[in-house]
Order: sequence, then C-alpha cells, then structure tokens
Amino acid sequence: MILLTILAPQLFPTFVSNKTRMQSNSFLIINGPNLNLLGQREPEIYGSATFDDFFNQLQKDFPQLSLSYFQSNIEGELIDKIQEAGFGAVNGIILNAAAYTHTSVGLADAVKAISCPVIEVHISNTYAREAFRHHSYIAPHAKGVIVGFGLHSYTLALQSFLL
Ligand code: DQA
Repeated sequence: MILLTILAPQLFPTFVSNKTRMQSNSFLIINGPNLNLLGQREPEIYGSATFDDFFNQLQKDFPQLSLSYFQSNIEGELIDKIQEAGFGAVNGIILNAAAYTHTSVGLADAVKAISCPVIEVHISNTYAREAFRHHSYIAPHAKGVIVGFGLHSYTLALQSFLL
C-alpha cells in the first residue's frame, strides 16, 4: 500500500493528503515572563525540570511535527512573536503567558487578532492559587485552556491540536 502510494499517489489521494498534512504540521510554544527560570523557580510549584530538557524530549516524542519554542520576559516581544507566527507561519500556538495572562489586554488582543488557533496552558493549577490568578484575559480568545498538569500541560495541548 505504501509502495503503491508512492508510485501512484493518485490512487490513494486521502492517504497522501493526510500524510502531507501531518508532515507540514508546525507548532510554536511561547512562554512568558519568569518561565526561563523553570527548574530553579519555586520547584514545589513548577517542578525541577528545565524547559529546554522538556522541549528536547517533546521533539523526540513527536518526530513527525515541526516544533519551535520562544520565551521572553518582555510583553511587547511576546506580542511581536504572536503576530509574526499567527498568520500562517505555524498551524497552532501553545501559549503560557505566565503572569501576563492575568494582566495583559495587549496579549489578549494579539491572540484575538491572529488567524491561527491558540491553546492557553499553565503548569500549575491557577484556580487553586491566589485569586488574582483565577482570571485570564487570554482564555476568551483561546481555542482551549489546559491548566495544572505540570509540563504535561504542553504535551496535552499539542495532542489536542492533533485530534
Ligand atoms: C503560570 C501561572 C501564572 O499565574 C504565573 O504567573 C506563572 C506561571 C503557570 O504556568 O502555572 O508565571 O502561568
């Protein structure tokens, strides 16, 4: 079947187009302020793994995907990245805006403005923490929100794009 598909793709267009679609799937993870400190920052809340180690493993776990990663502590840089990626450069964005989740109308407007889907993620269960972490400016414009599963929140977000 695979050989036939390669030799005569017109006989199996669905198989070919699905395969092509999978191979062109590219996703961007954007992390906001202080998430560069993962591994050393409040490990009882955020765990002891660095994001680089997690991201390397994620790339190995999803070899069929093109994954990229951006982190900034600066609100405007996060907005620039969302604008740059959000009009066709990637198929989806996984966004942990960290503290800006609870404060930034600018980031929320950027998520609202772009055409590609965004999944909001949080490592900790923000609803089990201080009240100011219970509100997200981004969530109303996100495709979905995944909260509280540690770094697995990112994996679940990625899997949800593949459903
Ligand atoms: C966080 C939760 C935010 O409230 C906090 O400001 C962060 C990390 C999380 O992933 O659990 O920096 O987004």
